[in-house]
Amino acid sequence: MMNKLEMVKGFLHGGDYNPDQWLKRPDILQQDYQLMDQAHINTVTVGVFAWARLEPQEGVYDFDWLDEVFDKMNQRNGHVILATPSGARPRWMSQKYPEVNRVDSDGRRHTHGFRHNHCYSSPIYREKVREINTRLAERYGNNPALVLWHVSNEYSGECYCPLCQFNWRKWVKHKYQTLDALNDAWCMSVWSGLYSDWSQILPPSLLGDSKVHGMDLDWHQFVTDMTVDFFNQEIQPLKKLTPNIPVTTNFMAESLKEGQYTPLTGLDYGKFAKSLDIISWDSYPSWHNRYETTAETAMKTAYVHDQFWSLKQKPFLVMESTPSCVNWGQYNKAKQPGMHRLSSFQQIAHGSDSTLYFQIRQAQGNSEKYHGAVIGHDGKSDSRVFKDVQQYGQELQKIAEIKGASKHVRVAILFDWDSNWALNRGGGFGRPTRLGIQTLQKHYADFWKRDIACDIITSTMDFSKYDLLIAPMMYMVTPDMLARIQRFVEHGGTLVSSYFSGMVDSNDRVNLGGWPQSLQDVFGVEPQELDTLLPGEHYHVKFNQREYETTDYDQVLKANDAQVLGIYSDNFYAKTPAITKHQYGKGTAYYIGARLSSTFIQDFYDGIVQDLHLENQFVRHSNPVVSIQTRYKGAYAYHFVMNFSETEQEVEMQRASVDMLTNRSIAKQVRLGKYDVMVLKEKRRDMLD
Ligand code: GAL
Repeated sequence: MMNKLEMVKGFLHGGDYNPDQWLKRPDILQQDYQLMDQAHINTVTVGVFAWARLEPQEGVYDFDWLDEVFDKMNQRNGHVILATPSGARPRWMSQKYPEVNRVDSDGRRHTHGFRHNHCYSSPIYREKVREINTRLAERYGNNPALVLWHVSNEYSGECYCPLCQFNWRKWVKHKYQTLDALNDAWCMSVWSGLYSDWSQILPPSLLGDSKVHGMDLDWHQFVTDMTVDFFNQEIQPLKKLTPNIPVTTNFMAESLKEGQYTPLTGLDYGKFAKSLDIISWDSYPSWHNRYETTAETAMKTAYVHDQFWSLKQKPFLVMESTPSCVNWGQYNKAKQPGMHRLSSFQQIAHGSDSTLYFQIRQAQGNSEKYHGAVIGHDGKSDSRVFKDVQQYGQELQKIAEIKGASKHVRVAILFDWDSNWALNRGGGFGRPTRLGIQTLQKHYADFWKRDIACDIITSTMDFSKYDLLIAPMMYMVTPDMLARIQRFVEHGGTLVSSYFSGMVDSNDRVNLGGWPQSLQDVFGVEPQELDTLLPGEHYHVKFNQREYETTDYDQVLKANDAQVLGIYSDNFYAKTPAITKHQYGKGTAYYIGARLSSTFIQDFYDGIVQDLHLENQFVRHSNPVVSIQTRYKGAYAYHFVMNFSETEQEVEMQRASVDMLTNRSIAKQVRLGKYDVMVLKEKRRDMLD
């Protein structure tokens, strides 16, 4: 049976709405709905941080203002995404029950304030959340406008209170059963760290154990488990009382440093995703920055969309985005004309079934008063931002039939949160040059430029449906993962991996006795040494009669029965293998020994793309700054053609078609203006006969 959200026809357009900040201004509340109608907004997300309004005193509830929102949305056949308010608690609660406040790693209990900072273990907090969620579900569960639960907000962070420490000890004990096993797993003979009693187990901290890699890895997993446990408890009353209303929570992306944009690495979203009915995330790329081109920002944003798609390989929601600027950056730049439309269609192109904003009306005061919003402080409908939203809302209606459409993806990139934690934690080699995610993005970028769709999956997901599995820097390996990788290649899959692979086990201990045998079998090589290069130090690899520069890492390889495709030209490993290819079973495994430039990556994949016929069948010549992404539904393919550049671009397709946004026929060869978008519809080729 379809859930309420699946039954919605057309895309969700709207976002975070905070009438709770405007209760003394009925005139403004009235105006909000008129403006929402004008902007083609059909969805509001309410109550995200409204606990203090919903329960102003312990056990005293006020739902009148929220009833009003539901009434208004029902009057216009709109949708409500109702949040549970646990992302920020009322002041009375922290005062009466201080244990709901988090304790930091220095042992300091925080006072009330800010948000996203409750203790996940606190029984009283869990109880209070259950109570308010039950009331919300009872009151609104059958309301026609309710389509989705937005559980809490942007879960993150950790708590070190005595109760969390107790749970940590319990978690560790449950995982290892005996102190002996624990001491082995964390290699505690080092620096006399052996545990002689379970009570000695404390969380990692700068005041105590700050360099036990195995412990750090477990702590990350524990924090994920605690967060998911809290989430699972939060949704219990919702699941019980409203089984046909799906649940989500808004996941985050983070900019770790300039030029990097990636799903949050603090929580294992691969694990968390299993508790959600639909994935949603908050998308805030830095358009128009000074450190990269618009196409590069677009590529990184596409990567994040695709990773969130891949968690369930089903449509997701963009739960938040800004119609203009954010307020939390050093410099908060507004989107240039055309960028709102382009970046919003990009969300849909990669599998989102919504464009939702933070926020509908701009706050008058407090910390986010200058954050972009659909309705600005002037309350007018003739602002550039409002008109952008309005135009986009109207266009979104023209492509409503695409909602729920799927994707067809033959290439997967491997990303594991565990492995990434371990990779970044380990000492040795080059500390600033691990760059695991940047390396994945470099491979991804090549496919994005070719308009070939990629999933970004974890190693516990099914590989067998892909033709090409890209797994560079596959640092941590488990026996199960190795067996599945081996099977994938044996059965005909193509695998690409690189230096920094197969190095540690699931406890972040180095694999002894050389490279795991299954990897040697699959790749036909044996890594011997990993040379760390200094900044500015480069050597060379000869591949396909061309020479490419290496950076950061050169791995010395011994080829057993692999074919050598590239060799080092210099340093002490001159004339030894750098790039290899190996037939294994019905498949092929490539190994890239060194960190090489994007030009190499492009030349390297040229052959593989051809061999596997991965080319986008709709595109004649890919233009690297025009992205084409396709969604499929029923007998139709919908190609989103997006110009991520400041100049007009030539696009060459295999066939003529029709642009759903303008209703114009589009020739095979067209010019697309700065930031312009087309949505081309055609009968699916594989369904033509
Ligand atoms: C999100 C958050 C919203 C709002 C927004 C501003 O991370 O969920 O509540 O603060 O950022 O960009």
